[in-house]
Amino acid sequence: MSQLSITEETSASQLSEGLVLSDVSLELGDGEQRVRVLDHVNLHVANGEFAAVVGPSGSGKSSLLAVAGALSLPDSGSVKLGGRELITATKRQRAKYRLKDVGFVFQSGNLIPSLTAADQLRMVNRLAKGPRNFDPMPLLAAVGMEHRAKHRPGQLSGGERQRVGIARAMVTKPAVMLLDEPTAALDSARSREVVELLAQRAREMGIATVMVTHDREMLDLCDTVYGMNDGALSSQ
Ligand SMILES: Nc1ncnc2c1ncn2[C@@H]1O[C@H](COP(=O)(O)OP(=O)(O)OP(=O)(O)O)[C@@H](O)[C@H]1O
Ligand SMILES: [Mg+2]
Repeated sequence: MSQLSITEETSASQLSEGLVLSDVSLELGDGEQRVRVLDHVNLHVANGEFAAVVGPSGSGKSSLLAVAGALSLPDSGSVKLGGRELITATKRQRAKYRLKDVGFVFQSGNLIPSLTAADQLRMVNRLAKGPRNFDPMPLLAAVGMEHRAKHRPGQLSGGERQRVGIARAMVTKPAVMLLDEPTAALDSARSREVVELLAQRAREMGIATVMVTHDREMLDLCDTVYGMNDGALSSQ
């Protein structure tokens, strides 16, 4: 089968197939520490689809997102965005994919300590060569953080940091959003607001979204729910 490679310009039609992982396997560690982290995983998330992945701690959920976001390479299988294969792409192409096509919200927030909330968003816009007149305030307002725009991560609560991370993931209008427990540090009312916002954004902008969550109360907001167990993914 012929495979499109990642090109400099990504056309809308190329992106129409969404995110497709086929037969993805990954083992990590040596000797007795060897773990089958991903076990023949198949996943198709269409553009605008909001999919959830639930499963016990250590089952491979973050590893799945890392592979989907081209942060790590699997041992075998295929990861495609809009028909473009990521596994065989060059390092540079994969870096570009991470920057422009993927909005990643990490389990830990992962903000840059020296930058204010507004500057976290501005930096992503600059790196991705977004508009010169980019205004971070509407995105910060969307997650209820406009009143903390000038705060640095050390001056924010855990939940506030998480909300800035979510706003940052939406800066580049990505083709894929990968959310690793985006609501872990939020109260239940705020969690619901944030997940509703993410789901709405995914649908409106046609973003293929995968959200890892422990929060079963959020699952009614998702289009599809998958379960992860010992590296194996199944529909729920
Ligand atoms: N370098 C490594 N060597 C060996 N095993 C590893 C390595 N990195 C991760 N693992 C194992 O891979 C498994 C999957 O880890 P992963 O972080 O994907 O789990 P998770 O489902 O996200 O868990 P949590 O809900 O706690 O975040 C875990 O059992 C972990 O111990
Ligand atoms: Mg995890």
